[in-house]
Amino acid sequence: MKAAEGAIVDARIPPILPRIPIQSDKLVRPDWVSSKPRSSRLLWLDKNENLDSELQKVTQRVLASLDPTVLCTYPDSGPLCRKLAKAMTVDPEMLVLTAGSDGAIRSTFEAFVAEGDTVVHTVPTFAMYPVYCQIFGANAIGVEYQRTESGPQLDIERLLWLVENKKPKLVCLPNPDSPTGTTIADRDMERLLVATAVTGSILLVDEAYYPFYPKSVVGLIKYYPNLIVARTFAKAWGLAGLRIGCAVGSKETILFLHKIRPMYEVNTVAVAFLEKMLDHEVDVLESVNRLNEGKRYF
Ligand SMILES: Cc1ncc(COP(=O)(O)O)c(C=O)c1O
Repeated sequence: MKAAEGAIVDARIPPILPRIPIQSDKLVRPDWVSSKPRSSRLLWLDKNENLDSELQKVTQRVLASLDPTVLCTYPDSGPLCRKLAKAMTVDPEMLVLTAGSDGAIRSTFEAFVAEGDTVVHTVPTFAMYPVYCQIFGANAIGVEYQRTESGPQLDIERLLWLVENKKPKLVCLPNPDSPTGTTIADRDMERLLVATAVTGSILLVDEAYYPFYPKSVVGLIKYYPNLIVARTFAKAWGLAGLRIGCAVGSKETILFLHKIRPMYEVNTVAVAFLEKMLDHEVDVLESVNRLNEGKRYF
């Protein structure tokens, strides 16, 4: 081995190794060195971004109204937390801001999943569920969507069986799921909530596509302290680049997510922007209607 001058080369020096799950060759992430931006000449729909130009007129105005000090100051997210909680009709203690819903999902794993814990997730689903299972050394059990004539269908009986018999630490359920676009019937959601409450499993309902799909389980948190809801401003609100979202749950559960919060969980630009943008919910709903209408042309 050719060593740089002054470098210590000693066969007795042990290799630097991360936690055991991170050592796995199966944990592979997209190549960040040679990745190239997507061509701006094409319309990209692969990440479910909201590219509605009417909504962009609103976001442009909000952006222009930001005080430049948002760039040189650390965030104070309290006022946004309170305003968002009010908009969602929950107490501010029931909410933690995160870097998109991905941040809410990661925080849930970080706070609750230890190596060897069982985590149940759907297959296929948002790419990060299996990745976080690997990162946190979970024993992942995938519930595959079944092909039917009316499209992919989740085997809810199998999901319930797994909850009752494997007593997972965490069940991850995007509603709607991606890329399947499938939703869970109210009755099945209720059965899952009851089953997970009984086994002491966290049920993470990922509502990234709210309000494209306007049904939400946020109102059920008061009955199910094991329920965590992940929300994002990346999709309907057209703010994927800001990386802001939240996790909502019972005060007791959210306190654990607050405990593992980084120094600043979201950046000042996102906090200031979202505080103003929350006054434009009507524009967002109009955008959602336009996009839903647009689906008829595909
Ligand atoms: C189901 C689902 N959950 C979570 C996310 C992550 O969203 P965010 O950009 O808010 O991290 C996505 C993004 O594609 C998604 O499809």
